[in-house]
Amino acid sequence: MAKLIFEPTGEEKELEDGSPLQPICEDAGVPFACTEGICGTCIIEVEEGMENLTERTQEELDFLGETERERLACQCKIKGGCVKIKF
Ligand code: FES
Repeated sequence: MAKLIFEPTGEEKELEDGSPLQPICEDAGVPFACTEGICGTCIIEVEEGMENLTERTQEELDFLGETERERLACQCKIKGGCVKIKF
């Protein structure tokens, strides 16, 4: 099992390794629109555990460039372990 922690509330959610972030982020209140990595509505800031997310998609690279902490939640899956995000 993997774990997603939402800051600043510290709310923790467990999810299967390999799960997309979108459903659980949507439940937590992250806004989504296109879900295809185009609009940027779902930007999250990864505070810890970036290495536990899948590689950036081409859509993320096109939209965000090589940012250190930002990801598009509709494009990420958690590989395992723990990831701490803020939105
Ligand atoms: S919902 Fe549009 S980029 Fe993620």
